[in-house]
Amino acid sequence: MCGIVGYIGRQDAAPVVLEGLTRLEHRGYDSAGVAVLGSRGIRVVKQAGRVRELSDVLPKRFAGTTGIGHTRWATHGPATDANAHPHADESGRVAVVHNGIIDNSAALRAELTDAGVTLASDTDTEVLAHLVARSDADTLEGKVRDALRAVVGTYGLAVLHADFPDRIVVARNGSPLVVGVGDKEMYVASDLAAIVRHTTTVAMLDDGEMATVTAAGFTTMRHTDLSSTGKTATEMDIDASAYDAGDHESYMHKEMLEQPVTAQAVLRGRLDERFGTAHLGGLDMDARDLRAVRRVKILGCGSAYYVGQMGAALIEELARIPADAEAASEFRYRDPVIEPDTLYVAVSQSGETIDTLLAVQEVRRKGGRCVGLVNVVGSAIARECDGGIYLHAGPEVAVASTKALTNMFLGFALLALQLGRVRDLSIADGKRLVAGLEKLPGQIEEILAGEDDLVAVAKSLAEARSLFFIGRVRGFPVAREGAQKFKEISYRHAEAYQTSELKHGPLALIDPEVPTVALVPRDELTERNIGALHEIDARQGPLVVITHAEVDLGEIGARRIDVPRNEPELDPILLTIPLQLLAYHAAQHLGHDIDKPRNLAKSVTVE
Ligand code: F6R
Repeated sequence: MCGIVGYIGRQDAAPVVLEGLTRLEHRGYDSAGVAVLGSRGIRVVKQAGRVRELSDVLPKRFAGTTGIGHTRWATHGPATDANAHPHADESGRVAVVHNGIIDNSAALRAELTDAGVTLASDTDTEVLAHLVARSDADTLEGKVRDALRAVVGTYGLAVLHADFPDRIVVARNGSPLVVGVGDKEMYVASDLAAIVRHTTTVAMLDDGEMATVTAAGFTTMRHTDLSSTGKTATEMDIDASAYDAGDHESYMHKEMLEQPVTAQAVLRGRLDERFGTAHLGGLDMDARDLRAVRRVKILGCGSAYYVGQMGAALIEELARIPADAEAASEFRYRDPVIEPDTLYVAVSQSGETIDTLLAVQEVRRKGGRCVGLVNVVGSAIARECDGGIYLHAGPEVAVASTKALTNMFLGFALLALQLGRVRDLSIADGKRLVAGLEKLPGQIEEILAGEDDLVAVAKSLAEARSLFFIGRVRGFPVAREGAQKFKEISYRHAEAYQTSELKHGPLALIDPEVPTVALVPRDELTERNIGALHEIDARQGPLVVITHAEVDLGEIGARRIDVPRNEPELDPILLTIPLQLLAYHAAQHLGHDIDKPRNLAKSVTVE
């Protein structure tokens, strides 16, 4: 959440920083600001609103070859001009941008006020500017170290000081920071997306690390004593175009349509047709370790939690090991019992979600083994885990997760297959599932090709103030994910229910104004599902049914969306794809900013 960009070099910094901020806007988009250090000291321009509105108000003469910028997702204080970053001290000689949360900011704000400082904002970040300014260390690094000694919390931080015009000092604790190396120019950012068009030679700071960045290069050191950590930059194998929306009207659209290709990427090299199994070298577990697993607990947040429920069902079904998923945001607060023969699995696109990271730390602190299903290589969760499966979905920019979620499901399918095949899953069943997985990318493509046919259905759903998503067993987490996607970008109230639970209460809400999206695959529960559809139909509830062509809905008045059949265990992901399209077109019909839904941001790095 929130984005940081910095530049020091030969060009004017403001345009470079602004361009970088537009690339990071999915991280937070309620306010933005830039500070430039030029011959007349530091100048700050910041305001509530989007980055493009900020660029409209930047003064024509805003020269200076060193600058930092920020795009914000409000935590402390509303989205106002005053609360936007950068924050400066009273003299205006220090400016800071910060991601994360300073936990003891209330106490520090009180101390600063008692010392006669006039605070200009409601934020936790502002204290950092004052603390840097008030340090009597004679280097900027020393001043930043002193400030960081006083704070408790998480930060990705970049600091400018008018007395040290040749440098930006950055620091990391819990919020990512990367330094990019150019030709006599350097970049800093909270995310590679901001700088990949300029350089792919980068160094990622570790927690507890600081860096001095000048136009000529960078040096890294520990926060505590400023001793060198000697980090060097490495060349990353990144395709910069993967960060662009190209001809698509939004990133979400691009990312949905990429799924046939990205789904292949997570499967590539991991399927073994001969033995009907999967090989996941990154797990770092041999057959004996895998056989020793007695239980699987999946931890993730939001959509990652829902796909974790799909994964748990797959593992239980294929490997016959008890498995469940839990919201990582709740896990550590109930002082969980950590069992030595349970395999904990953290699932996260960003690898930064703080609730998931803290859940992993809880597991590891108590001696448990936690592996990761993570998209972003080298991210905090990936590093914290004992091993894992990278998702290879490529950069996901839209706030609403689509292609990463699909690859999470496939990652779980691979894990379930491997766990199953070291136990009692037969080679015939293993081969059946390998063949099913190989077919999936093509079937996803088939569903996406039918996009235009779903637009009218999506528009009709968009007109409802409230709707249900229902499914049973394998289909219930799909319903939860469908409702999540719908509410996230259309802002309609969408509630997921087990189909079997409808008659135990929510049926009272069914009427001609409340549509239901029902998941009715051809499986052992089809007839029972159809029974529930009759109950809805009898109360004139509008129905959209995601199903298979073989399913006969009889007289039920429903709009049906057929998906291709695969193995029943793999149905959930094929049922999920039309739900993405429905949410997308409903939100588009309502004229919403699909990539930047209100109140949300990509990668939730605050508790
Ligand atoms: C929904 C969505 C969020 C994320 C959740 C976890 O579309 O994107 O619910 O799934 O915030 O994020 P990651 O996967 O980055 O840990």
